[in-house]
Amino acid sequence: MSSGLDVLSGSLRVRNSTTAVGPVKNVNCKVVSEVKSCPSVMSPETKRLLPPNTETVQTKPFPIRGERANYVNSPHVIAMVGLPARGKTYISKKLSRYLNWIGINTRVFNLGEYRRHATTAYKNHEFFRPDNQEAMAIRAQCCIEALHDVCQWLENGGEVAVFDATNSTLDRRKLIHEFVVGKMGFKLFFVESVCDDPMIIEQNIMEVKVSSPDYANMNKDAALTDFLQRIQHYQEKYSPLDEDLEKNISFMKIYNTGEKVVVHKHEGHVQARIVYYLMNIHITPRTIYLTRHGESEQNLEGRIGGDSNLSDRGRLYAAALANYIHDGQIEGLRIWTSWLKRTIQTVSGLNVAQERWKALNEIDAGVCEEMTYEEIQEKYPEEFASRDQNKFAYRYPRGESYEDLVARLEPVIMELERQGNVLVVSHQAVIRCLLAYFLDKSADELPYLQVPLHTIIKLTPVAYGCRVEHIKLPIEAVDTHRAKPKVPGQLDEKFKQFKKVNSIPT
Ligand code: SIN
Repeated sequence: MSSGLDVLSGSLRVRNSTTAVGPVKNVNCKVVSEVKSCPSVMSPETKRLLPPNTETVQTKPFPIRGERANYVNSPHVIAMVGLPARGKTYISKKLSRYLNWIGINTRVFNLGEYRRHATTAYKNHEFFRPDNQEAMAIRAQCCIEALHDVCQWLENGGEVAVFDATNSTLDRRKLIHEFVVGKMGFKLFFVESVCDDPMIIEQNIMEVKVSSPDYANMNKDAALTDFLQRIQHYQEKYSPLDEDLEKNISFMKIYNTGEKVVVHKHEGHVQARIVYYLMNIHITPRTIYLTRHGESEQNLEGRIGGDSNLSDRGRLYAAALANYIHDGQIEGLRIWTSWLKRTIQTVSGLNVAQERWKALNEIDAGVCEEMTYEEIQEKYPEEFASRDQNKFAYRYPRGESYEDLVARLEPVIMELERQGNVLVVSHQAVIRCLLAYFLDKSADELPYLQVPLHTIIKLTPVAYGCRVEHIKLPIEAVDTHRAKPKVPGQLDEKFKQFKKVNSIPT
């Protein structure tokens, strides 16, 4: 797939919105007057000397269709380390959700599932005694099988495999290193979760472990007692990651859910992103509220983008939202809006400190800004149909794609992860991207998520995911959702003569 600027065996190819200039080779541009005729080979310094023109302005390809950008050249294994009930599965699932959201194909391999598959029903903690040789042999075999699957998946196009297991001994980590790095030549990064707070450990056991399939036939108290004994067995042989004992391996250690982080010899971009992400997450209970702005004047006309004011009904929603938030007395609530008038007007009745994020602005529809779907279909029929073919990757001419939007929103997600209670007031496409992150939705589903006007989407983190509630406030609004059509480029009746259909009776 061609990008805006491709390096093709030593030559440069520059594309603008309407023309693709082919490779230019062996052109030696020495002076500015000569350079003007061959802008594609100018140095950045020379380019800065010239006024911009259609040759020198880099515009986005028109349009991009196809695969997401790739960040991962060499497959990675992220191997978790730590005693049971230290949040390894929580970190694995959350990390996988984040990496998939930013476009890195990631999958979790949980060793407990391999063990359950290989054995009959779990009886008790005795299985995990280090002197239970029969069980140790089964556990070692399960580990080999899981690693085999990890590597096979990575060879078949996977990018990051998270190996969710205790990996709590030096021998086990040596085996993983030999397998993953020695045999396969993949990158390996260990992530250890260290926790010595008995409250956090017990909370974790009660929240997720007692409801594990292992304890299907045990009551909660018996399960808690058994699990604590299981931890004791691991403790006997536990060897935390140590930069002196394991000098040449790459790892990070997270102490007490983020109180302190240690990074040792991390390798490259993907691992750096993982470190940065895991440094920002926390487990303190909180709620995130997402809502679109109140209905806008351009919503009433079925126009996309723009920067219009709220409609009368939109202003009613702003008042109702203020009541809802004030009634909730939400502790330490922060409010984030975009820079566009309709989100700022939506929170004007809220007496709470507000922050404006340009990154929360609506998707830039480029040449289609402020047009109705009907107008786009009429003026740019091919564009309109291509968006329906791959809505996530499709980039509006001189505008953005959903994929671009996800990249723009990464700092917002990172900051949201750090925060407590937050109300985010933004726009349909932006909220779809944020929702996809929290609800682990694929790139195919993301552009079609339902985000109706005048509805608060309440997200509460639970165990390994998020509970989602839709709170519809009782103020009518137009429906701007356009479902994926059966035939690309087809437009529902509802979007034809949108304004006439949606005119509010006076
Ligand atoms: C399990 O069998 O539940 C966990 C295995 C391990 O990671 O040690």
